[in-house]
Amino acid sequence: MATVRGNPVSFRRWKPTDAEAVARLIVLCWQEYDPSKVHGGMLNSYQAWAKFEASREVETMVVACVGESVIAIAGISPLKIRRGRQRGNLHSVCVDIHARGAGVGTELMAATLQAAREDGYAEIEMEGVTNPVAVQLYRSIGFQECGHDGHGVNMRQDLIAA
Ligand SMILES: CC(C)(COP(=O)(O)OP(=O)(O)OC[C@H]1O[C@@H](n2cnc3c(N)ncnc32)[C@H](O)[C@@H]1OP(=O)(O)O)[C@@H](O)C(=O)NCCC(=O)NCCS
Repeated sequence: MATVRGNPVSFRRWKPTDAEAVARLIVLCWQEYDPSKVHGGMLNSYQAWAKFEASREVETMVVACVGESVIAIAGISPLKIRRGRQRGNLHSVCVDIHARGAGVGTELMAATLQAAREDGYAEIEMEGVTNPVAVQLYRSIGFQECGHDGHGVNMRQDLIAA
């Protein structure tokens, strides 16, 4: 089980009250990926999005916590059903800078895929993964590379055999 500075990390689905922490981590991701895309109203927009989405329970979003503090997030949004199989788009995978390298990302992804299975997803995909640490992490939990979108690697995984 992952620990951060000696404290155990727990995993659960998000709640509307996580909106501020979720928005902070999404903006952190953007800052690292492309700071030119970060703007003043971004935090508030993502906070409103997270509050709305967490209450309507369509997104599969898992948060990692130390005590009450959210230190990492990962989300899956529904895509169009293809050949009767529900596909999901993995997004917003982000571990707080101070909690990285401690196994949180790996356990978070395991918890997120488990939640996706419970929610009926048959396939999970992700486009344009540019961070080599993330590519390695996704490979280690069963994702396979399936192309390139011009920015980064596209990856996918069947949760239910095709
Ligand atoms: C990618 C990310 C989610 C990984 O989270 P994490 O909690 O640090 O991951 P873990 O500690 O579980 O480590 C996963 C693997 O990466 C390795 N790793 C972690 N940090 C590393 C680093 N800085 N350099 C090289 N390898 C690293 C670990 O050793 C581990 O490998 P192993 O399974 O062979 O031991 C995190 O770095 C992050 O949030 N990055 C910024 C946002 C991002 O890029 N998200 C992905 C969008 S597609």
